[in-house]
Amino acid sequence: MAEPVSTRPRGTEDVLPDETPRWRRVERIARESAARAGFGEIRTPTFEHTELIHRIGDSTDVVQKETYDFSDRGGRSLTLRPEGTAPVVRACMQGGLLGGALPIKVFYVTLSAFRYERPQAGRLREHHQFGCECFGVAGPVADAELIVLMADFLAAAGIRSAVVRINSIGCDRCRPRYREALLEYYRERLPDLCADCRRRWGQNPLRLLDCKVDRPAALGAPRSVDHLCPECAEHFAGLRTLLDRAHLSYEPDPLLVRGFDYYTRTVFEFAHAGIGAQAALGGGGRYDSLVASLGGPQLPAAGFGLGMERLLAALELEGVGGEPRAGCDLFVAGEDAAGAFDLCVQARRSGLVAEFDPLGRSLKAQFRHADRLGARHVAVLGGPSRAVSLRDMRTHQQRDLAPEDILRALADAGGA
Ligand code: HAM
Repeated sequence: MAEPVSTRPRGTEDVLPDETPRWRRVERIARESAARAGFGEIRTPTFEHTELIHRIGDSTDVVQKETYDFSDRGGRSLTLRPEGTAPVVRACMQGGLLGGALPIKVFYVTLSAFRYERPQAGRLREHHQFGCECFGVAGPVADAELIVLMADFLAAAGIRSAVVRINSIGCDRCRPRYREALLEYYRERLPDLCADCRRRWGQNPLRLLDCKVDRPAALGAPRSVDHLCPECAEHFAGLRTLLDRAHLSYEPDPLLVRGFDYYTRTVFEFAHAGIGAQAALGGGGRYDSLVASLGGPQLPAAGFGLGMERLLAALELEGVGGEPRAGCDLFVAGEDAAGAFDLCVQARRSGLVAEFDPLGRSLKAQFRHADRLGARHVAVLGGPSRAVSLRDMRTHQQRDLAPEDILRALADAGGA
């Protein structure tokens, strides 16, 4: 179906200049929060070999039904990344980080991710994530550090009402037994399940717990926390103790499962009730087998990803604005656009924010424009004997100066 060239593709968003300050603010806070906890920034390509993305789990909807796969002109099969974790594992392996000193702690912001989903509020075909990944720590301190980091980041960004739910879905040793218990429980309920769940039953029965259609069935289902091996049980208890020590309130949720196959033991999700059906702001967990399954060393790992669009929607509800706009230090007014251009260039080169009217409007219109910009000073060109009159817009004081003295006068006034 051809779409007009004047509309963006379905499920994508533009960020116009009025909206970028809100993005910049959360990106800054994300960088500060991650850096304070010792995470270094990582950037990876927008597309990867299809093979890598499909290796993260062919029984998940994201990988099975939602990837953007394409062939390039050289006949390679490539896929737009649907998430950050597998690409980051690949990059850390390829960059030789996973063979060096541990732990390795990396974060990404703002990472674009592509999923061919049915667009709705909070669900896009291109969305963006802030995420953190930690490699090399088997104990629950890594899980706790990530959950606390995310909670503290959300608080610093201005979210007051996020709830974090946690669960443990066991490991490769204890999960098969749990899987059997789930299959057994759901076997006789199969006819009542939705088409998606009937398909999931054989492939990925944990996802049945997530079914929005048959909630009562999930509520009565066997729980992973009752099937944990002693090591997984100890890990989960350890995590809860650490969260308590950090005075972080959380809700244990035995029905919490996540959309990717790679999780082991801990899973967690932060939700915000105000942003509608797609309430998950972000989530993550432990993935102790993924690195090895992508060809790397046997290395425990954990991480989270947080949806920037959903976070910004929640912040809007909570009345939080954006990064303050850089104020205009100097507006150069006058009929001589070339002279205004010259002075602006000099002012900008000296570090000031300077603007002029390139359209040659009346002096009155130019002053209105300077007012709208909140200009701190206005220089009016074209006075007697080349003098420039410099007006302080706060004190309304005005003086005539030679053009070459303007920048010094502004510097003496504190730059602006
Ligand atoms: P995820 O839960 O699929 O996890 O995505 C993380 C967050 O990205 C979600 O909670 C949501 O806020 C946002 N998100 C996901 N899909 C969409 C969409 N279609 N439209 C808008 N926002 C969306 C992951 O991606 C894992 N890689 C997280 C992780 C990192 N686990 C371990 N390390």
